[in-house]
Amino acid sequence: MAVDLKGRNLLSLHDFTTEEILQVLRTAEELKMEAKRGQPHSLLAGKQLGMIFQKPSLRTRVAFEAGMSRLGGHAVYLGPEDIQLGKRETTEDIALVLSRYVDGIMARVFKHEDVEDLARYSKVPVINGLSEFCHPTQGLADLLTIYEKKGRLQGIKMAFVGDGNNMAHSLMFAAAKVGIHLNLAIPETYRPDPKALEWAKEDAAKTGATVEVYTDPNDVDKAVEGVDVIYTDVWLSMGQASKEEAEREKEERRKVFLPYQVNMDMLQKAREDAIVLHCLPAIYGEEITKEVVEDPRGRVVYDEAENRMHTAMAVMALVM
Ligand code: CP
Ligand code: NVA
Repeated sequence: MAVDLKGRNLLSLHDFTTEEILQVLRTAEELKMEAKRGQPHSLLAGKQLGMIFQKPSLRTRVAFEAGMSRLGGHAVYLGPEDIQLGKRETTEDIALVLSRYVDGIMARVFKHEDVEDLARYSKVPVINGLSEFCHPTQGLADLLTIYEKKGRLQGIKMAFVGDGNNMAHSLMFAAAKVGIHLNLAIPETYRPDPKALEWAKEDAAKTGATVEVYTDPNDVDKAVEGVDVIYTDVWLSMGQASKEEAEREKEERRKVFLPYQVNMDMLQKAREDAIVLHCLPAIYGEEITKEVVEDPRGRVVYDEAENRMHTAMAVMALVM
């Protein structure tokens, strides 16, 4: 039976049930097929989306803005120059005022609590467009891409290699909900959040998924061995360190993360028909080589980026 997501917030994939996630994916698939046929939509005709961005974005902004317009609605962009959560005015006032103008809010924030606060005070659904804790709308696009390329989600083997960041968390939540076996190869000092791991393990126990963390750099091969999907993301996320700190840490991070680089050698360890995913933007020569993205197995990252729009549209159509 179809589940009703109207009025719901999407702060983390951990908050959605398996059936709710699958409902978003089915809707995205349908919308994508219709988009390919050039079928116009009026599902959100007359509706407005407010988009708060505290950090830069290409994919998230355009996926939601273009997606909203394709559904017959309109999106309003509010950048750091327009809105400073809790600085120019309280997050509570921002949420209450925006709720009088728009039918949904999507926010990219530094602190996860900010998107939680927006949701607490808003009268309209709030969608997390990335926080330092997780990136749920990217996780949905990743699931859709895996499903399209592999024909299933349950039982798929995936390895995430790199920093235990927001993407690692969202993939843990996503994988655990849909029965994907996820190995995370992450250096000890960059481990994922213990609470996120605990949530993912709890969900995994219900779906038959497994979530394993490998922190020894000698175990990267073991984590990647025979997987269907290799996933990576930047070694330093937006807002994780000040410019000076980032400059200071650069060499240290490079040293620690180099065994985790997704390159042609690493690809050899995965299944022959494995795909490589990356949320993008990528820093070529760091977490991934250009050669990998030029290989058909790595070019999938552009399908993945396209799927940001179809899944964003599905989320908006369902919650708004
Ligand atoms: N993947 C992703 O969220 O990209 P942007 O930062 O460009 O939105
Ligand atoms: N982990 C990255 C993801 C970017 C889409 C960041 O937060 O910068």
